[in-house]
Amino acid sequence: MQTALISIDDLFSTQGTVEEDILSPQGALLLPRGTPVDAIRTIFPDFSDTLSKFGIQHIRVSVERDGFTARELADALSDVHIQMAHIDPRLSNLVIGRIREAYRKVASGIAARKDVTLLLEAGTTLAREISKTPSVMFSLERVRTWDEYSYVHSLNVALLSGFLATVLFRGDVRAVELLTIGGLLHDLGKAVIPREILNKPGILDADEYEIVKRHPADGERLARASGVQDERILSLVRTHHERWNGTGYPSKLKGEDIPFLGRITAVADVFDALTSRRVYKEAYTNNRAIGTILCETQHKFDRRIVRVLLRSLSLYPPSTVVELSDGSVGVVLAASDSNLLQPDVFITYGPDGRKPKGMTVLRLSRGSNLFIRRCLEISQKSIA
Ligand SMILES: [Fe+2]
Repeated sequence: MQTALISIDDLFSTQGTVEEDILSPQGALLLPRGTPVDAIRTIFPDFSDTLSKFGIQHIRVSVERDGFTARELADALSDVHIQMAHIDPRLSNLVIGRIREAYRKVASGIAARKDVTLLLEAGTTLAREISKTPSVMFSLERVRTWDEYSYVHSLNVALLSGFLATVLFRGDVRAVELLTIGGLLHDLGKAVIPREILNKPGILDADEYEIVKRHPADGERLARASGVQDERILSLVRTHHERWNGTGYPSKLKGEDIPFLGRITAVADVFDALTSRRVYKEAYTNNRAIGTILCETQHKFDRRIVRVLLRSLSLYPPSTVVELSDGSVGVVLAASDSNLLQPDVFITYGPDGRKPKGMTVLRLSRGSNLFIRRCLEISQKSIA
């Protein structure tokens, strides 16, 4: 914990506890030391107005640190070593086909009830598969156009959200189903955004961005009109762009006012968007994506959900085979204590594809400008 003097305007976007008794100028106790900021937000939503009336502009808060130390990560990981798996291509094709049909019907204004029903059924099958698999699954589909990107992205968000549900709601099959189906439907509102905006390679202008910001509410409306009845799925679609600190859209909800399922989908959505190749940017490596989410954790995402994601992804247990940014291949020996995201790697093939002469161990955390581009299946490149 660190102590910080927080402006009352920023109080409700802070995680922590009040560090000292807050007294009125007359000496009346307004709030005792040790009160969690979360509790103030819930019980006294107008508390900053009250403080302002008494001329109090700042209060001292014990703030939860941003990010995670290597020790915290190591502790979190001590009993879990989850690897990524790839979804069966037949199931992936089936689901993507159904997403495509549902989107097309919705985009053309034709009643999409039947296609959305088929998509919900595919979601149930997918959820069953996710519940059986003890690892995060991703699809291996390659995409070229926005439409393809959008379908594969929806599938990946469904896979990742469903996986997060298996951890966050251990044993609750219905929760996995809700998150998986919600992931498939979350961007349905984009079906009615003009293609020239969605495919625009540059930065959107203000008017275009306003149009894009309509998609969560449009998605909820279109899903409801297509026969989706479960309010938890509908609210997930509506709230997947809300952010913990209230900077999201469409309703600028904050913290726990955002439905939990919407918060989970937000993390899955951003992670997949960062790791996918888009028209206007190169894909981030998993590490950079995790780093981006970590930097924004305290402000934009629910820390508990990010913690589950961190436990499940991106870290490289010993013996993981990895490809580095220069094309060389190696085996992870150990993560340095200070930086679990940049382990020591025993190089088995150099950038030229040949075995190096002698033993080479690269310490990625010690001044190397190389980074891990991806994990390899052992069959992708022999390590003998
Ligand atoms: Fe979205």
